[in-house]
Parts: sequence; structure tokens; C-alpha cells
Amino acid sequence: AASVEHTFVVNQTKMTRLCKETLVTVVNGQLPGPTIEVTEGDSVTVHVVNRSPYNITIHWHGVKQFRNCWADGVPMVTQYPIQPNQDFTYRFNVVGQEGTLWWHAHVPGLRATLHGAFIIRPRLGAESYPFPKPHKEIPVIIGDWWEEDLAEMARNMTKGIFLSYASSSTVNGLVGDLFNCSGVTKEGYVLDVEPGKTYLLRIINAGLFSEFYLKIAGHKFTVVAADANYVSPFTTDVIAIAAGETVDALLIANAAPGRYYMVALPNQAPLPDTQTPEYATRGMVRYKVSHSTCTSSTTVSSCQGTEEEEKGYRGTSGDAPIVPKMPDIHDTITSFYFHGNLTSLHHQGQLPVQQQVHERLFIVLGLGTICKKGQFCKRGSSDEDLLVATMNNASFQHPTAIPTPLLEAHYYHTGLINATTQELPKGPPKLFNFTDEALIPFGPKEMQLEPTYKATLVRRFRHGAVVEIVFQSTAILQGDSNPMHLHGHDMIVLAQGLGNYDPAKAVATYNLVNPLIKNTVLVPNLGWIAIRFVANNPGAWFMHCHYEFHLSMGMAAVFIVEDGPTNDTSLPRLPVNFPTIGQDINLMPN
Ligand code: C2O
Repeated sequence: AASVEHTFVVNQTKMTRLCKETLVTVVNGQLPGPTIEVTEGDSVTVHVVNRSPYNITIHWHGVKQFRNCWADGVPMVTQYPIQPNQDFTYRFNVVGQEGTLWWHAHVPGLRATLHGAFIIRPRLGAESYPFPKPHKEIPVIIGDWWEEDLAEMARNMTKGIFLSYASSSTVNGLVGDLFNCSGVTKEGYVLDVEPGKTYLLRIINAGLFSEFYLKIAGHKFTVVAADANYVSPFTTDVIAIAAGETVDALLIANAAPGRYYMVALPNQAPLPDTQTPEYATRGMVRYKVSHSTCTSSTTVSSCQGTEEEEKGYRGTSGDAPIVPKMPDIHDTITSFYFHGNLTSLHHQGQLPVQQQVHERLFIVLGLGTICKKGQFCKRGSSDEDLLVATMNNASFQHPTAIPTPLLEAHYYHTGLINATTQELPKGPPKLFNFTDEALIPFGPKEMQLEPTYKATLVRRFRHGAVVEIVFQSTAILQGDSNPMHLHGHDMIVLAQGLGNYDPAKAVATYNLVNPLIKNTVLVPNLGWIAIRFVANNPGAWFMHCHYEFHLSMGMAAVFIVEDGPTNDTSLPRLPVNFPTIGQDINLMPN
């Protein structure tokens, strides 16, 4: 195994999109940030040098960090944030995982521009992929372009105020040609393909909010992995990908040579009323001209020149690139079926499917208000103070009131953690018809979700416990996307459904044979999803909605997994030079 080392300098720089210069916070001047490429088994060292005006951390989304929670990168959960002009070094091994993951800043708002791909290749090389070896592997990072100040937007979001909208979506940091001042070859992502070749697209949704539909006109995808877990090959003309998810898909360049638009269209997005489809982004798949086409009028070498190539790209299909027909931006069912159609490539026996469940949580996702006069008030009344996002009516408060991150508090200052946290409730205080749309907008029945409160929510699990969680979405969320992400563990997806979770019916639909394995699961709009995980990675792990507004408003909790009985089921103690309580938090310039 090799060691892979990077230095991430976080800096502010001006970038031009949509004919306008905007100040963005990026790593090494790049958007998307640098791709980290490793082979399974490698060790990774990333020196983060913070030259931005913000406190930041970097999280390695989906990397399990087995017995290494210290490197998980969640501010005040696993570490102090890296302050302006400070450095911090992340060290971890990538073991037992392969596929596409990503990294991003784990502070409100800033992950919109502080992110990049994290690619794990198999030890035995590309020949060992459970699908034909691709000609090329291409990261396709879907995101948003913000002209707003993201830090200010983040401050507003934590106050429950949401006024901002992305100016465009992006593919690999580019906005596309749907804007007056842009032309696709200048401002859109172009993927050049050779006829007949197969490409592995490593697709990441790094956007703050929206789920996306991705299509390429005239082509189909074969999905081969999701969240760095192989799936049974699934052929589809549309990919649905929620914030935080990754999808690996094969693209075969088997259409007539020409130009084909690649469109990423946000759905379940927070949209301004005047929303137009231009909010989508267009990139392009462009066929390289074949030599036989070239030689009729030119030589092979001039054919490789830019202009001749451009003519060649137009191929036989004429001048206009072909546009795919996209699903409606309010269509959530296409996504429901896309996700429901994925199953693990591996089967029972190879999968950690546990029949015996030790702990069950029924987590109802919602919105609520914290009121000026105590904890109970009508939404919209003058007593209303703060809009919060909740799980079982409880809203996560970042542990800023304690002087040490929760992980350290758990191992070294038990009294402190007990005094400053509360338990995430196992179920909602009351069962009712959560998905009844009569609850929109904020009708009288909505009161049934009250009272709401804010606390540093934790849930403790005995080492090795098998935990089943049902996430239930509610009408109160008004169609917002809810991709629930668990750090440090894989979740086995048992089943999903529309409407209210009913154990009498749902359990019969559980897939214990070849369930999908994910680190981020999309809760269907007005529906539910049931997952299991084995709490076998000791530490303090964040569990939260990856929809940035919900996260900022408190749809989160910390899962504390206790040490097991032996050394190799326990978390090694604080790494050397790790900033701790009582130490100067000037972080390890080593
Ligand atoms: Cu990708 Cu806690 O996040």
C-alpha cells in the first residue's frame, strides 16, 4: 500500500461565471477542488492550510475512518474547527472500500465550493472491476453556482431564514450554455468520447440542496455502484442523485457520431417563484471524429486540429446538439423508482445483513418553531421565534456551549458530555398521519408536531449493536429533499415506501437478500425508508440531513458508538499533536 499526500490551501479567489466575477472560497484555487485518488489499502495525509477568513474542517464523505473518528472532520463533534491562518493535518487509511466518494468542508454553506472527488481504486487494478474495464474514468461533479455570499447565507440559514437561490447548477464547476453570455465550449463541461468506447462516470452531487436528474441525449447509463458500493448493473436513461450521494455509471459511446447535451436538472429544489428551467446546467458529450470521416477532405493530422475536430464533432447529425427530454422539476417518483431499482451486487452471506435487531429508532423528520415564551406556540403567531428542522421534534444544537469537541468529551470528560447533551428520542411523541398534505401549509394539525426544542442530541450505542432506523418524511417539509447521511458506517437499505410507515406491511417488503448499501439514503418525499447498521466503529459520528438548510436548522444528531471489549474494537486515544482541551488550539504546524 502506498501513502498519498496532499496539501490543501484554502483560499479566496475570484472566478468568473455568468459573465460576472464572484469571490469564492476554494482549495488550491480550483473548483471543483483537487481529486484525491487512492488504491484501497493506501494511507492518506492531507495538510489543510487555512488562508480563508472562515473556520473550516474537511470531511471525507463516506470514508469509514474505522477506529479513526479523530479524522472525520466535523467541527466540535470530532475536532476544533481550523481557524483562519491555522493548519491541521488529516491522516487516515482507506480500507475495505472502493468506488467514488468525495470530500467537502463541513461548515455551513461553504461546501458549495470546497469539495472534490475522492476515488478509491481496487488493489488488483481496473481488471478486477465487476464490469468491463472502462476506456476512461471521468469525475462528473454536479453542484451549484452561487453569486450570494455563502457565509452570510449560512448565517441566515442557522436563523431559519432562507432567501437565497443558486444562480445556476454546474457540472465540474461550469455553468453551461443556457445563459445569454455563455457558450457551451467556453462555459460548459465537455466530455470528448471515441466511438464505441466505454466510460466510467463517477458522479457526485456536491450541491447544497437539490437532488438532480442527469441525462445525456441519445445515451443510456448502466449504474454499477452507489456510495462506493457495487450494485447489480442497472440500465437507465436517467440518473437521480440527491445531495451527498455518489453514483458510478458506465456510458457507452454507441450513438451516431455527433454532439449530445448532458443536462443536470435540479428537482426538489428550493426555487424562486419565477423559476425557469435555465436553472439547469448543460454540458456536452462530443464524439471525436473518426479517421475515415476525416480523410475524405483532410489529412489525419489536420483532423486532430481544433477547428477540423470541431467540424468532425458535428458528425452526421447536423449542427445542433441533441437535447434530452428531462423529467419535470417536481417529479419525485422517477427518483423513487431509480433508488428503489438499485440492489447490491453482493448477496446475503457476503453482506452484513443482521436478522436480530437490538435497537429500533423511528425518526420523524419535520420543521418546528422555538417560541419566545417557552416551547409551545402556534406557527405564524407573534410568539414565534425561530424556525428549526427536527428529528422527533428535537433540533440539534452545535455543542458550542462546551469547551471541547464531543468526541474528546466522550473519552476524557464524561461529566461534561452528560451535562451538556440530551438523548435523541427513539420515536416521535405522537403518531399521526405524517404525510397528509392537508398539513400544508401549516394547518392546525401541524400543531401535533409541537413542542419543539433545541439540544445537543446524542444517542449512545453499545459496541456491536444492530440498529434499525425508519426515517419518516412529513408533509410539513413541503417537498424538500431529505438525504440522510451517517458518518463512519454503511447503512443497509431494507425498504422504502410512500405514505406512513406501517410495520405490519413494511416488514414483509424488507430486502435481506441483496439490499443496497449506502452512506446517504434519500427519504422518499411523503414516504419513508428503513435501514440497518451495525454500530461497530467506536467514536462520535454525525448523522444528519445533507440538505444544507435542514442541517443548518438542526436536522442532525451525534451517534456515540462505545468501545468494544478489546483493543481492536476500541478507538485509539488522541493522536499526537491533536489539539485538546486546555491546549492552545493553534493546530499542529508540523
Ligand atoms: Cu457529506 Cu456530514 O457530510
